[in-house]
Amino acid sequence: MKTKNLLLVTGMAAVIGFTPAAALEIFSWWTTGGEAAALKALFDAYSKEDPQAKMVNAAIAGGAGTNAKAVLKTRVLGGNPPDSFQVHMGAELFDTWVSGGFMEPVDAIYQETELAAALPEQLLDYLRSDEGTYYTVPLNVHRANVLWYNQKVLADAGLEPPESWEEFLQAAEPLKAKGITPLALGDNGIWATTQILETILLAELGPDGYRGLWDGSTPWDSPAVTKSLETLSQVLDNANPDHAARSWDQANDMVIQGTAAMTIMGDWAVADYQAKKFSGYGYAPVPGTAGVYDGSSDTFGLPKKAPNREQALAWLELVASKEGQETFNTVKGSICARTDCDPEKFGEYQRWAMESWSQDELVPSLAHGAAASEAWMSQIDNAVNLFVARKDVKATQAMLVQAAQEALR
Ligand code: GAL
Repeated sequence: MKTKNLLLVTGMAAVIGFTPAAALEIFSWWTTGGEAAALKALFDAYSKEDPQAKMVNAAIAGGAGTNAKAVLKTRVLGGNPPDSFQVHMGAELFDTWVSGGFMEPVDAIYQETELAAALPEQLLDYLRSDEGTYYTVPLNVHRANVLWYNQKVLADAGLEPPESWEEFLQAAEPLKAKGITPLALGDNGIWATTQILETILLAELGPDGYRGLWDGSTPWDSPAVTKSLETLSQVLDNANPDHAARSWDQANDMVIQGTAAMTIMGDWAVADYQAKKFSGYGYAPVPGTAGVYDGSSDTFGLPKKAPNREQALAWLELVASKEGQETFNTVKGSICARTDCDPEKFGEYQRWAMESWSQDELVPSLAHGAAASEAWMSQIDNAVNLFVARKDVKATQAMLVQAAQEALR
């Protein structure tokens, strides 16, 4: 990739003696084996173009950004932003960062690279402000509603991946009889259970009903939400008792080892399997959600006061490019945000995901920032936390109703 900005910087350097690419600090939460490998591949691609660049990896561990987001806020509010940072499309981008006035528009990059024409319209809706301004560049699309399973474990039990939650609960019985945990869960970050709830809500309400939860057109006090919580309670009864002590990737280890049959996780799980050299996994839509892509996108933007603005712009051009997206996403488990990536470069799971993406409806992921503001999401996380401890459907639903009332006021 040759970026115009890089050329510009290099050209200017000769004239005014400026040292190009002094540093480039990139902030994310990509620290597990597969995530870090994908980030490194993108760093390497940047360094190839700008060998002088001193890449600073400011990643903070914790799935879904649980720890990173708090650190990032402290840094930005303290006037010490990184040069560019990972942020989910949709509500997280707009409610936290754009409305706070922390971001510079990046429309120029969209124009220079003709990016909007290379992105599907359903994605642009979550990237463009009401005024038609872009503030970040999408690197990928991740899918949250995937059921991963150990092929041998299911086959040995004579089971197919369940297509409904009823089927899931039926399949759980013979597994338990064999001493196998039906569902591996690692919710030391509560988002992992919030993500299960979001997929159950999607199965129960369908895509329109699920979308309506976020704009007030689907009531949170409805019987469908009650039913979803009841299902969640039964599903949790089939998870490993030590789930609160595990991270998402430690839950994945149970599937790899065959001590658990299935797990529900976003498709960064593929990067984890690849990093751990495990190929015996299978995948299917989360029960009841076939035909719907419960998605989010990791995007990067330009914070105001970015210390190395020119380098940040060159980074964003790499993120926007076909080469950058293919380099990163083949390792990360996600698919390109762009529509012109070459499927042949990707593994089997991702080719399946690309196929779904081209025909499925997109709904915004709650646990991965696209559906609800961070304030709303953290209230939902609190309700889910309490639910995990007490399994009190009525009290939890009341909390969810109140959270929605406050958020949509
Ligand atoms: C998501 C993010 C993914 C992946 C995952 C687990 O929120 O979009 O890129 O990193 O968290 O950490």
